[in-house]
Amino acid sequence: MTTCVVTSSRKADPASAREAADWAERLGTRVVLRRGRSIPLLCREEGVEAALVLSPGRPPTLKPADGGTGYYYHPGMALTRIRNLRNGLGDPMIAAMELQEGDSVLDCTLGRGSDALVASFVVGPRGRVVGIESSPILAELTIHGLQTYEPAGKGLTPVFRRIEAHRGDHLEYLGARPADEFDAVYFDPLFEEPVEASSAMVPFRPLADAQLLSREAVAEARRVARRCVVIKERPDATLWERLRVDRLVAGRTSSIAYGVIDVGKPTREVSLWRPSEPS
Ligand SMILES: C[S@@+](CC[C@H](N)C(=O)[O-])C[C@H]1O[C@@H](n2cnc3c(N)ncnc32)[C@H](O)[C@@H]1O
Repeated sequence: MTTCVVTSSRKADPASAREAADWAERLGTRVVLRRGRSIPLLCREEGVEAALVLSPGRPPTLKPADGGTGYYYHPGMALTRIRNLRNGLGDPMIAAMELQEGDSVLDCTLGRGSDALVASFVVGPRGRVVGIESSPILAELTIHGLQTYEPAGKGLTPVFRRIEAHRGDHLEYLGARPADEFDAVYFDPLFEEPVEASSAMVPFRPLADAQLLSREAVAEARRVARRCVVIKERPDATLWERLRVDRLVAGRTSSIAYGVIDVGKPTREVSLWRPSEPS
């Protein structure tokens, strides 16, 4: 986990002291006075890898000690994808999960919540989207972002607010859920090989939990899912050798694929079984 402290912008705002203390408590760290220091100097003197900077009118931003690009909550491509859906263009992730209004979805790798937002838009107020994120800093920034971000599009605020976002490990969460609780369970682990074009991932990736998706987690997901388990990865990823799926659905670009496990139906491994020839 990235070590960090909470601080203010150079022009400290006394009204944000309470907010700073809240963030420090959630992240299990402390608040330090900025005292006009640059972020690299502050991090060096405080012995941490990053500082969460609270500035009036700006989203809380995690700035790294090396002076690189800061990370703050943003819905990413979710609003464009929702616009595409409104224009009848479809979305490969939604197609892979066969999501419909009223469905329930468990997103086991919430990240910044872009995929969860698209799912939340589709399932609507009668549906349910729960998201689990294990990186403490990403989880706290996404939980806060989903509750405070004001999207420009009409009627979109409830799409953000309805997502039930939790900090935790998906294997633990899945293990505590009853069978068949969700229509679909979704995994989007960090790609084994990053997609070069994705500049949005640059400040995100070092904060993310890079553990491989485990067989145990997929087995638990099969138990908790009523209809399907869907995994996003590159089409040529070695993950498809470790974790068998029934079929691959192409993503919007050729660098992405969605592996679908149809729960209750045999997987590719099992489907090697052949009925005996009629005598
Ligand atoms: C590629 S990102 C997901 C992006 C997300 N689909 C979105 O739309 O923003 C993968 C995320 O899964 C998280 N993660 C990895 N292992 C996890 C685990 N065992 N439990 C929960 N989250 C996990 C990582 O920290 C990272 O934020």
